Amino acid sequence: MSQQREHWSSSFGFVLAATGSAVGLGNLWKFPYITWENDGGAFVLVYLVCIAAVGMPIMLAELLIGRKTQKSAVAAMREAVGPAWGLVGAWGVLTGFVILSYYVVIAGWSLRYFAMTAGWTISGLPAEFDLGADFAAFALSGGKQVGLAAVFMAVTIGIVRSGVNHGIERTARVLLPVLFVILLLLLFSALSLEGSAEALAFMFHMDFSSLRLESVLEALGHAFFTLSLGMGAMIVFGSYLSKRDSVVKAGAIIVILDTMIALMATAIMFSVIFSVPGMREQVGASPVGMLFISLPELFYTTVPFGNLLAPLFYLLVGFAALTSTIALLEVVASYLIDEHGVERTKAAIISGACIFAITIMASLSLGAVDGFSTFEVFDGKQGVFANLDHFASNWQLPIGGFLITLAAGWVMTREATEAELREGGVPGWYSYGAWRFFIRYVAPVAVGAIIVAVIAFGVDFS
Ligand code: PFF
Repeated sequence: MSQQREHWSSSFGFVLAATGSAVGLGNLWKFPYITWENDGGAFVLVYLVCIAAVGMPIMLAELLIGRKTQKSAVAAMREAVGPAWGLVGAWGVLTGFVILSYYVVIAGWSLRYFAMTAGWTISGLPAEFDLGADFAAFALSGGKQVGLAAVFMAVTIGIVRSGVNHGIERTARVLLPVLFVILLLLLFSALSLEGSAEALAFMFHMDFSSLRLESVLEALGHAFFTLSLGMGAMIVFGSYLSKRDSVVKAGAIIVILDTMIALMATAIMFSVIFSVPGMREQVGASPVGMLFISLPELFYTTVPFGNLLAPLFYLLVGFAALTSTIALLEVVASYLIDEHGVERTKAAIISGACIFAITIMASLSLGAVDGFSTFEVFDGKQGVFANLDHFASNWQLPIGGFLITLAAGWVMTREATEAELREGGVPGWYSYGAWRFFIRYVAPVAVGAIIVAVIAFGVDFS
């Protein structure tokens, strides 16, 4: 049964696949919204510091554990750190399971908005169309919610079953460059709008007086989500990396690209919103509002070349989401493959189907079915969707991330981590001492603070 493990065809292929995992709804949907909520400027700076001081060290820790063992999350933690640490890998698999179950619901929305805007591009924006009311009706439609999520899940399963090279890497090689080009087109168009100067000032003007402690923790929590850390995804992706490739270089590129794309998306959305009088006030209500209620119409009324860019924008959202759902499913499927010897196609279908059972409840919890919509485990969180998101962002990722910092910084030996990070070459700026300091002290203290904030002060990151 011992088959040769598949590997990325090159370091570049790996960087694209891992960047695809990192770049997703977190960049296009969540980051702009939390930047908005936290008044930009100082929050953006804090976020960048969190990415560099906590995200980057944990990224390297996960990648090195994966590449060293050439195993997926559970077996990798068991082998690299110790038998009991397999549980941390299992916690990661569960996290992937939970995140994918609700993530795919929003991913499905991109299909609807792509189709809708493509229709408008062809036949014109309908007169008197109320996007808010339309969205509310859409959320209530159980059939549409489940159907779109099912299509998205089916495509994800199809790609994961095709394997690391022919499925995951090949998809990333096509989608990521397309995604980048669309983003650049949108950026050029948005920056030509008169609101762009104000948007950039909002993003980069540092006003620390409005920064709250909660904002700092929120930035940190988001750093995990956006870089796909704390759940073993990067362990699994690292496990398909050959010993000839540099973990440090690849990790740095992934982190930089993810951050750049989040900033670009934010600049685009804010430039559009700031160009329309009165829009600033309207957007405040929810993250959903920005992406799916305010923006579609603005493309046609405000954005230069908007009638071409609108469908492209929702295509971008769909592509970004797809390369992330692939990674999430791979975490679960690779567990079945490596740990239980399940054949890949079967593993992809079984894990996808089990996750989808939860997706059905999440997609019906936006109003379609009362029991699911009022379901409440966490205080004040209404509905299956909101509770899953809360559990993953507040509990699963921080706890997983915290344990990974302990594993790499305190349990694994200095010799083991140093040798693995060095294998495959290191860039000139690399300092093992700096990494070790951050993974042993800075990252666990920072992530520990999130956990304390959640448990003791009820702070909410979802
Ligand atoms: N990083 C993704 C985003 O920002 O949308 C979310 C995610 C994808 C988390 C894949 C974890 C993962 F394995």
